[in-house]
Amino acid sequence: MTLRTLFPTQVYTAKLPREVARILNGKLLRQSEQIRQDDVAGRRWSRTNYPGGFTSYGSMHKLHLWTPLFEQLERRIRPHVHKFARALEFEMTGCELAMTDCWVNIMGRHAMHGLHLHPHATISGTYYVVAPAKSPGLKLEDPRLDRYMAAPPRQASCRIENQTWVTIPAEPGQVVLFESWLRHEVPANTVDKERVSVSFNYGWF
Ligand code: NI
Repeated sequence: MTLRTLFPTQVYTAKLPREVARILNGKLLRQSEQIRQDDVAGRRWSRTNYPGGFTSYGSMHKLHLWTPLFEQLERRIRPHVHKFARALEFEMTGCELAMTDCWVNIMGRHAMHGLHLHPHATISGTYYVVAPAKSPGLKLEDPRLDRYMAAPPRQASCRIENQTWVTIPAEPGQVVLFESWLRHEVPANTVDKERVSVSFNYGWF
């Protein structure tokens, strides 16, 4: 028999070199805390839209254009975005992929980020700065879920490619990339320590 895997959903993960990540993450943590302290509009936005946490998504969402440190982070992420685009076999002749948005997320206890996708973007992703033990990962949802109709549930032990939800653990220094149409969420943080990440979008132009 022949079994074809068609229309796959591809997710890219890579770790920055350990020493690079250690130094970068120390700086990113300090700057993220400073942003939280300074960004009054962001704190107000987070109180309504991100209880238990702080995100600069609603206020400072182009950090790669506004601070040299996040610009440096973008330069580290960019080669991975290009590698992912090659793996996806995007035809990019005469076009470029460029970061359009970049914001910081600090999740305290009980903070969560419900299911969503990233409209107006091509490739989205997250870079992890601090991920305490047992803090939540990135939960991805099968994009065909709304078309399953009479499909039976999957076996609990099924292969990862047949699972309906897959969680990528949060690991400091790791970049996770996915196509922006893929719905995802971050379940509630159940530990007392803060989880810090930087999320971003790339568009093609
Ligand atoms: Ni997201």
